[in-house]
Amino acid sequence: MTAPKKLFIKTYGCQMNVYDSERMAEALGGQGYVETKTADDADMILLNTCHIREKAAEKVYSELGRLKPLKDANPDLKFAVAGCVAQAEGEEIMRRQPAVDLVVGPQSYHRLPEMARRVAKGHTALDTDFPQEDKFEHLNRRPKARRAPAAFLTVQEGCDKFCAFCVVPYTRGAEVSRPAARVVEEARDLVERGVREVTLLGQNVNAYHGGMTLANLIRALAKVDGLERIRYTTSHPNDMDDDLINAHGEVEKLMPYLHLPVQSGSNHILKRMNRSHTAESYLKLIERIRIVRPDILMSGDFIVGFPEESDADFEATMELVRQVRYGYAYSFKYSTRPGTPAAERALVPADVADERLQRLQGLITQHQREVQTSMVGRDVSVLVEKAGRKPGQMLGKSEYLHAVHIDGSTARIGDLVQVRIVAAMTNSLTARHI
Ligand code: 5AD
Ligand code: SF4
Repeated sequence: MTAPKKLFIKTYGCQMNVYDSERMAEALGGQGYVETKTADDADMILLNTCHIREKAAEKVYSELGRLKPLKDANPDLKFAVAGCVAQAEGEEIMRRQPAVDLVVGPQSYHRLPEMARRVAKGHTALDTDFPQEDKFEHLNRRPKARRAPAAFLTVQEGCDKFCAFCVVPYTRGAEVSRPAARVVEEARDLVERGVREVTLLGQNVNAYHGGMTLANLIRALAKVDGLERIRYTTSHPNDMDDDLINAHGEVEKLMPYLHLPVQSGSNHILKRMNRSHTAESYLKLIERIRIVRPDILMSGDFIVGFPEESDADFEATMELVRQVRYGYAYSFKYSTRPGTPAAERALVPADVADERLQRLQGLITQHQREVQTSMVGRDVSVLVEKAGRKPGQMLGKSEYLHAVHIDGSTARIGDLVQVRIVAAMTNSLTARHI
């Protein structure tokens, strides 16, 4: 028997990368790799990368440069780059950083074990195809390893929407849905490992079409015994059909939280972004969702400083935010992505974009605080995920995805408990058992 090799994975970007990293670790387990928490003692360092904004991609190159001395000290150490930067840059990564042994795009992870074998023999390996096979079906699973109570489950990948700023349709490819039966099977398997909450992942998850709609997939998953909570992310407003909206009023296990990015509140900018919806249609949609589920907590994404964004366009975004009052929202300064339609257009001056970002984030933070504060005195259910820092304190998420500290708790990890919120902090709530 040879000693296990150590694999260090660093994950950047979205939740789908978190899911993919777990699956890659499982797949490489078949090659004798076990995960380690530090790069220093690793035999393979795998960076699972993000290309959504410029800074994200640059971070990968600087991280590789920072890690390079480890390889100088240990020539047997292997460097692997996966994820969207791998897809977008391909061979260029090995040119810019010759220490890299393996480059694998997000649709080729099922080929990772074979690639790792080649690399072990001292070759390099590169795969950025968009093959037809389901990349997840050929990946190993660890035999019944225990899991944390909340897990991600990818159901759909890729995007056909082609928003003018976005690299996703190029790096993750066309929309592909996993068959519903496989998703349900994976959910059952997760439940056997201790999972009680799943978040269904997809770049355009509500366009899911794996033999049934997302609404019906949610209904099918709600029948899985032991699975108590279902969430899904990320959605496009144009794919929020009536049936999915109704599911929010009818399926108890579907949590009252919805991430529904709008990107801008200006119809001119939305048009230039190729979003195919207006600010009004988005607001109307939220109104309809709130009719079936009045307490739903809304979350969203915004881009400021998109080419041609005027002061008036930006004020329209501020106004939309005031109307929706998000419980959470993420805002980004526009970042040019080579190869996307908007990349050719003139930029808004950086100082103007910076100032807008600050103002928008200020407003969003104010709403976030108000929503958190309004939770004080209310009873919520919490899925306990870990022990808190203070003795007797447990930490988990409410149905609204708020982080909740429960003081003086005897609850165990994986318990679903009813608690009363007693205080609101900046990023979390404090609760006591009822
Ligand atoms: N620049 C800035 N933000 C972007 N996003 C996507 N592409 C870009 C870009 N080029 C943001 C969008 C999306 C979120 C995941 O990232 O708001 O919803
Ligand atoms: Fe990108 Fe738009 Fe597709 Fe979302 S819907 S992944 S922003 S192209």
